[in-house]
Amino acid sequence: MKEKLSLLSEKAKEEIFALKELQELEEFRVKYLGKKGQLTEISKEMRNLTKEEKPVIGQALNEVREEITKLIEVKKNEIMELVTEKKLKEEVIDITLSGKKVQAGSLHPLTETANFLKKISMEMGFDVSDGPEVELVSYNFDALNIPKSHPSRDITDTFYISKDVVLRTQTSPVQIRYMLEKKPPFRMVCVGKVYRPDYDVSHTPMFHQMEGLMVGKDISFANLKAILTEFVEKVFGETKVRFRPHFFPFTEPSAEMDVECVICKGKGCRVCKGSGWLEIMGCGMVDPSVLEGVGYNPEEVSGFAFGMGIERITMLRHGIDDLRAFFENDMRFLKQFK
Ligand code: DAH
Repeated sequence: MKEKLSLLSEKAKEEIFALKELQELEEFRVKYLGKKGQLTEISKEMRNLTKEEKPVIGQALNEVREEITKLIEVKKNEIMELVTEKKLKEEVIDITLSGKKVQAGSLHPLTETANFLKKISMEMGFDVSDGPEVELVSYNFDALNIPKSHPSRDITDTFYISKDVVLRTQTSPVQIRYMLEKKPPFRMVCVGKVYRPDYDVSHTPMFHQMEGLMVGKDISFANLKAILTEFVEKVFGETKVRFRPHFFPFTEPSAEMDVECVICKGKGCRVCKGSGWLEIMGCGMVDPSVLEGVGYNPEEVSGFAFGMGIERITMLRHGIDDLRAFFENDMRFLKQFK
């Protein structure tokens, strides 16, 4: 039996040497150490042994079992190491390869300008408000003192949803909504989309306006001039300004405000059409009939209002000469405003 055992041990050593897979190793274990394995078979012959032989052979048996168990353990580690090594080789990552660039977006220049104007307004104590783009005719026109016969009410100048509802043609109706809700004194601005059926080099059917309104006791045209001048200087830097008489149905008196041409500094160029001045907003003292219409007493409070085009301000800030660039989504244009 002893001989059988040492033969078995030799054979096992030889066999295990050639193994390469965990699966093969498991088969090997079953073959030698399993319930029906070779070592178990040999141990069954123990009962034919004499009392003296039993402990000797028993010990030899244990030794061979331990030896084979150890061999399996060592082989197992060897195989695992090889497997890991192989995996590492196959899954190698070349960290020197360039990765995929993530394209970071940026604010549209109109959004950026709108935010900029709102920030300046807030710094000057104005409340930022807004109103609906689908607006009542009574707020868009009637309450702003715009006569029934006014050409801006024509279907060629206004998008009608129904007889009484339009896409607002100006942000001025937000003045009405604000006054109906609040009590003076206050100052508010609003920036938003407006709509008119125009489409050519300098007009798009949707564009943006900013509206401002300040109402309180003893608000005068001097306040209008001082505050709007400060506002414009915060937008364009220190600059000459001028106010020209104008007409708007909802203000009296009314004016248009010009800044010295930001391109030629007043010398006269293509952008200012040789005048040296750029028109940037309409303004005026809120017409008493508008104040009355929202339930204010024009003997007690007065105010001024102003309105400007965001596209125009943006074009002047960035030297953009084509309005359509804002709405074409051309990345080459948009990327310049990061
Ligand atoms: N709503 C006018 C327009 O669309 C702009 C305007 C002018 C607004 C004078 C005002 C203002 O508040 O006082 O042309």
